Amino acid sequence: MPLPYVLLSAAVSLDGYLDDTGPDRLLLSSPADFDRVDAVRASVDAILIGAGTIRADNPRLLVNSAERRAARVASGRPAYPLKVTVTATGDLDPGAHFWHTGGEKLVCTTDKGAEVASRLLGDTADVVALGADLDWRALLEHLHDVRGVERLMVEGGGRVHTQLLTQGLADELQLVLAPLLVGDPAAPRLFGPGEYQGGRLRLVETRRIEDVVLMRYEPTAPGAGPVPTAADRRWLRTACELAAQCPPSETAFSVGAVVVAADGTELARGHSREGGDPVVHAEEAALARIDPADPALPGATVYSSLEPCARRASRPAPCAELILRSGARRVVTAWREPDTFVAGADGTGVLRDGGAEVVVLPEFEALAKAPNAHLTA
Ligand SMILES: NC(=O)c1ccc[n+]([C@@H]2O[C@H](COP(=O)([O-])OP(=O)(O)OC[C@H]3O[C@@H](n4cnc5c(N)ncnc54)[C@H](OP(=O)(O)O)[C@@H]3O)[C@@H](O)[C@H]2O)c1
Repeated sequence: MPLPYVLLSAAVSLDGYLDDTGPDRLLLSSPADFDRVDAVRASVDAILIGAGTIRADNPRLLVNSAERRAARVASGRPAYPLKVTVTATGDLDPGAHFWHTGGEKLVCTTDKGAEVASRLLGDTADVVALGADLDWRALLEHLHDVRGVERLMVEGGGRVHTQLLTQGLADELQLVLAPLLVGDPAAPRLFGPGEYQGGRLRLVETRRIEDVVLMRYEPTAPGAGPVPTAADRRWLRTACELAAQCPPSETAFSVGAVVVAADGTELARGHSREGGDPVVHAEEAALARIDPADPALPGATVYSSLEPCARRASRPAPCAELILRSGARRVVTAWREPDTFVAGADGTGVLRDGGAEVVVLPEFEALAKAPNAHLTA
């Protein structure tokens, strides 16, 4: 199921705190950074915060710039993004600014929380019950499928950020590091304890903004089973972009592949017909770059824009077989192989019979097909 692009946004002290324990909200950003945040808000379909942040900060969460609101309206969007909060208790103050400023409001909660929130808020907000417990993936599916949210900005607090990151649902982190220290262990931290990805996130940007520094990161660790993570989607996009680099052919598909270790380290990448080899396949080229004894291979995920081949005339072993021999047991792909060159090719079946998990993300099919349009028309 496609989910919204989820962008976590926060400002932190040098010692990793989101706030102090005083009665007023600690101002961590600089004026120019507040304006940057305003621009990010203007770019998204919805902004989400936890009920704890409503209680602690009483925020309005507006797009403050009249020009940005006008640009949203001119492009057919509402002046303000949808405002969303999550709560288990439903215990929300109906007098909070959140409910009386900006555009539409939505409460995502549990069955029990919905009773309380509906009673407290009346018509002020839509209240959606997502079951006995709140499941983040169900919440994101609801935002995408029912509310049409393609881009979601999450503005805290720490408990919300922690869950989205540990559950592999965050596509991007936008952190602003502020030059001050809190030093109070009772203050809220950006990220709490949890099972985070083992390896390093990818740093995609740093920017000095007055006296703070913006850092943008992307999670990199593949998922572990049939359920795709945000990082799975990003790696598959990379594979599809590699497919677009293939030398054109009338007799073979253009495919890109990336092999990624469980901790998010890229082990190798490849694309069809690379390096002057007219018959090499993407997965074959990528796997050939990895030492077969590399201990990361058994836990690795292979991303391939097209389902790995099950049969081929040009080399003795098809790519599904090469993947199984490598030890990798998880494959993420965008598109099942059509009958264009091989009738009834079923690389997925070969992989599954060999004990591999195959995850197909159809939302990338159009991107994977684009460099092959002349073969599939
Ligand atoms: N510096 C920054 O950029 C920034 C940004 C935002 C917030 N903050 C700070 O962060 C602090 C608040 O953070 P926080 O961690 O205490 O609160 P929070 O993450 O904003 O909200 C936590 C609350 O959200 C609801 N919730 C979270 N996960 C849920 C789930 N899986 N199911 C159902 N409900 C769920 C619960 O509400 P119920 O209790 O109603 O059940 C929970 O108590 C404040 O001090 C604020 O100033 C700082």
